[in-house]
Amino acid sequence: MLYADTADLSELEEMLSIGIFDGVTTNQKILLTANPSDYEDHLKQICKMSGGDVSVELTENPKDFNKLLEEASHLYELAPKEIVIKVPMWRDGTGVALSSSLSNDGIPVNITCLMSVNQAIVGCLAGARYVSLFYNRMKDYYKSEEAANAVIQYTRGLIDRFGWESKIIAGSIRKPEDVAMCLLMGADIVTVPYKIYKLLFYHEKTEETIAEFDAAWAEYRKRR
Ligand code: E4P
Repeated sequence: MLYADTADLSELEEMLSIGIFDGVTTNQKILLTANPSDYEDHLKQICKMSGGDVSVELTENPKDFNKLLEEASHLYELAPKEIVIKVPMWRDGTGVALSSSLSNDGIPVNITCLMSVNQAIVGCLAGARYVSLFYNRMKDYYKSEEAANAVIQYTRGLIDRFGWESKIIAGSIRKPEDVAMCLLMGADIVTVPYKIYKLLFYHEKTEETIAEFDAAWAEYRKRR
């Protein structure tokens, strides 16, 4: 239900240690931030830590289908139990063709950078394990939270209606409230960056309540 959207090993260690994250998502920007000296070794470490799916994005030129297939199987072989190949939704349909081909060969795919229901539909039909809808990038584009919510809701509705096996990942999370909203709209999984994870526990009224109970307890102890 919650994945960690980071490739920083110390962030990951902290997030995975509290028992609420089942997988990890990365992309090139996230890896640039983590800046590992050895990319493949770093991915293997993430896979060892994760205990679940680890999405890793293809980087080869979409014009060279064979190179993409090679990169996908090379990445998959690094840790076949964990690696899921993130395939971008390129405009010429290469990503969809590649997703069909990889999925047929038993290599799990996360089709990514999705901003519309149509893109999610073709991802599902191509057999992707995950269709990744980018929540805040959709909000930016449609200039509307309702529109972004509707994309998730409609995708959920279609998956349920046709019995497709793909799961919806909501990415591009910028506020703690986005986590609940994406799940409420029908996402199966929300992938959460570290700085949002740190805010999931906080509510000012909770702080006030805990302080009130602590004060009561201190008073009780004083009377003994
Ligand atoms: C996860 O799969 C996505 O790559 C990530 O959440 C995108 O987030 P961004 O919109 O902050 O780049």
